[in-house]
Amino acid sequence: MYRTNTCGELRQADAGKTVTLAGWVQRTRRMGGMTFVDLRDRYGLTQLVFNNDTDAELCERANRLGREYVIRATGIVAERSNKNAHLPTGEIEITVTALDVLNVAATPPFTIEDDTDGGDDLRMKYRYLDLRRNAVRSNLELRHRMTIEVRRYLDGKGFMEVETPVLISSTPEGARDFVVPSRMNPGQFYALPQSPQTFKQLLMVSGFDRYFQIVKCFRDEDLRADRQPEFTQIDCEMSFVEQDDVLTLFEGMAKHLFKSIRDIEITEPFPRITWAEAMKLYGSDKPDIRFGMQFVELDSILKGHGFALFDEAAYIGGICAAGAAGYTRKQMDELTEYVKRPQIGAKGLVYARVEADGTVKSTVDKFYSQDILQKMKAAFDASPGDLILILSGPDVMKTRKQLSELRLEMGTRLGLRDKNRFACLWVIDFPLLEWSEEDGRFYAMHHPFTSPKPEHIPLLETSPGSVSANAYDMVINGVEVGGGSIRIHDSALQSRMFQLLGFTAEEAQSRFGFLTNAFTYGAPPHGGIAYGLDRWVSLFAGLDSIRDCIAFPKNTSGRDVMIDAPSEIDKSQLEELRLIIKKSE
Ligand code: AMO
Repeated sequence: MYRTNTCGELRQADAGKTVTLAGWVQRTRRMGGMTFVDLRDRYGLTQLVFNNDTDAELCERANRLGREYVIRATGIVAERSNKNAHLPTGEIEITVTALDVLNVAATPPFTIEDDTDGGDDLRMKYRYLDLRRNAVRSNLELRHRMTIEVRRYLDGKGFMEVETPVLISSTPEGARDFVVPSRMNPGQFYALPQSPQTFKQLLMVSGFDRYFQIVKCFRDEDLRADRQPEFTQIDCEMSFVEQDDVLTLFEGMAKHLFKSIRDIEITEPFPRITWAEAMKLYGSDKPDIRFGMQFVELDSILKGHGFALFDEAAYIGGICAAGAAGYTRKQMDELTEYVKRPQIGAKGLVYARVEADGTVKSTVDKFYSQDILQKMKAAFDASPGDLILILSGPDVMKTRKQLSELRLEMGTRLGLRDKNRFACLWVIDFPLLEWSEEDGRFYAMHHPFTSPKPEHIPLLETSPGSVSANAYDMVINGVEVGGGSIRIHDSALQSRMFQLLGFTAEEAQSRFGFLTNAFTYGAPPHGGIAYGLDRWVSLFAGLDSIRDCIAFPKNTSGRDVMIDAPSEIDKSQLEELRLIIKKSE
């Protein structure tokens, strides 16, 4: 028998028992005539003791154990004289009577402990060793528990998990496709799904009225902390529902996860705000509402007083940072530099402090009387000690986005974004279409299968840009955890939508004919949602990057540095696929 117990299990009550443990040697220490070995497995750490006086030969063998050796030890559970309160098994140790080395180990390239000396690249190259560390393993355990709870909740609501194919053709979710050449169909390619969107809609046509799938999706896009080229969705679809039914059911799932995983009881309904309101108040379609600091528009107060920058701006808006009036010149310079960074792109920052006596002192005092500045103060409902930060610009949306970045930065600086507090909301009523100046055409804001609000359908003919969709996102702490919509289930409306998106009738038929044809065979009204599982796990684990809850993630260049993928393929494989690689110029 390899083991009777795990390394995380034994307590004071077990004293006197003979046990066998198996695991990895984390550390060996010699003190006087004693040797101590920390033995680790997935469940914890237990101290083994070898006494030179009682069994010199056994103790000598323990002294020769190297880091990460795999061993089996049998011994007696003994109460520890110097208990370790930081360790769940810290009350006991094992007085070892028999030791077997099950496998030796090369010295690991970094220490496998909570505080490791291994840099990012090294840990990714040896990810299987990194995964032995508590911090990483516990994220995967959390992920496992979340998927179990998701399945439990959805199964309880009558959802059925159905697998959909991975080798498919393009799904228009807005990113580039990863493609796979087909040997049997030379010159032709599969695309990996950006989501199972069209398949889940077809399952609705098939009558599977409540579908879900925990599924890998693939998107070839620029990577960020919250993006991976392959990531996992909790993908769901329902028939015979309206928007409210979907929101209620999935709000229930969120609450179930909060309760079962984080022991947080949320009784209030999630706030719902429209996309237009979110943009106006927070400059973002995924506002972090753990804190207020809502935008105040200042055009009517600050225009027309001779300050050219404001007079010519299409938008002037500000936020009020409570209690930050004491910021030093250096801190203000830092903030100004922050908004001027190329990623944010503001031209500059105007600010105003509310003094102890209530007067307002700004960086643009020469253009504004105290009277006007007091009006501005009133618009923010600002108090003495507050700092007002103002941005302006020639483009409303761009300036709002810049102000949104500044709001988040101030939220962070003022300690208002505590990772252990959660603020959830629904953003609803997204625009159906987004105009691209660059391409001179409309794009679907969500995807082409999203239904316009029924009362807006006539606007598709007159002003498509102003049509709202029955589309919604769930946002937690400024992270878009999920998004979905009520779908078009009418073949003619779906065809009209493709036309608006610039597809000719032939293109639409060749790419999506399978779906529009299916709709002619009795498609029920339907809608759904998909969650980003990686993002949700990261939120619950308080991680800065979704990589840390993925067993084998890709780096920011989309590489798996452990297995060294992607890589070149053999000439014979290329020939079989009839592919020729163009040499880079
Ligand atoms: P959407 O494109 O909004 O919708 O994706 C759903 C959710 O998936 C997560 N997500 C990602 N997570 C990690 N890395 C990525 N590259 C990445 N891209 C997206 C986000 C997002 O909210 N078919 C529709 C859903 C529907 O309409 O039902 C879809 O895929 O958390």
